[in-house]
Amino acid sequence: MKGVILAGGTATRLDPLTRVTNKHLLPVYDRPMIFYPIDTLRGMGIREVMIILGGKGIGDIVELLADGADHGLDLTYRYQSGPLGIAHAISLARDFVAEDPFCVVLGDNILRGPGLADVAAAFAECEHGAGTLLHRVPDPERFGVAELDDRGMLVGFEEKPAIPKSDLIPIGVYFLRPEAFGVIAGLVPSRRGEFEITDVLNHYVRQGGLFWRHWEGHWSDAGTISSLHTAGLLAAGASA
Ligand code: G1P
Repeated sequence: MKGVILAGGTATRLDPLTRVTNKHLLPVYDRPMIFYPIDTLRGMGIREVMIILGGKGIGDIVELLADGADHGLDLTYRYQSGPLGIAHAISLARDFVAEDPFCVVLGDNILRGPGLADVAAAFAECEHGAGTLLHRVPDPERFGVAELDDRGMLVGFEEKPAIPKSDLIPIGVYFLRPEAFGVIAGLVPSRRGEFEITDVLNHYVRQGGLFWRHWEGHWSDAGTISSLHTAGLLAAGASA
């Protein structure tokens, strides 16, 4: 399995911290933010990773990570020229992924808990076209939100709904196969002008082909001042 880390976007919600530097270089407790998604992928046993870069100071990310040898990885990079969304960023990894299943991790997602090697292996062996991890949060309206029916079956996802149908969200860890590039090519931009990962997940839910597991560890994104602070506490070992 290959890995893709999404480290694009303009990070305006972190202004002024991100006025002259890239969000993914900001400290989360004792390390640059991007070290955490790297650890998430390495914990799955993944070695070949592409980082999709965008926004400020991308040369500094390359200078920090170089060829990935310090992290036990073989790293390559691609540039995303505009904030066109997660699904668009994933589409840039098409040639790198080639025929392999792959795991996409958002560059601002901090996970602390059990390793994901078993989950990655289960996805690689399953019949499903795509997968994600669901996690309970107190503020689901900030994220994609899962809807489950009375029997606990997944019905679909809504991106940042005003009235969330559950407190379960897909965190920024996605398992995909190359066929997903065809699904992404058929998407239309959302109201906020982005190609949404939620629309990709919903495609697979409709086909009955979404693989999902509960993420039982700790999790935070780090895209706002408040969640960046929470992520730091989580990385320091506090329960967030
Ligand atoms: C993105 C996804 C959302 C997901 C979240 C996890 O949100 O669109 O579905 O729950 O990442 O971090 P964004 O970071 O773009 O607000």
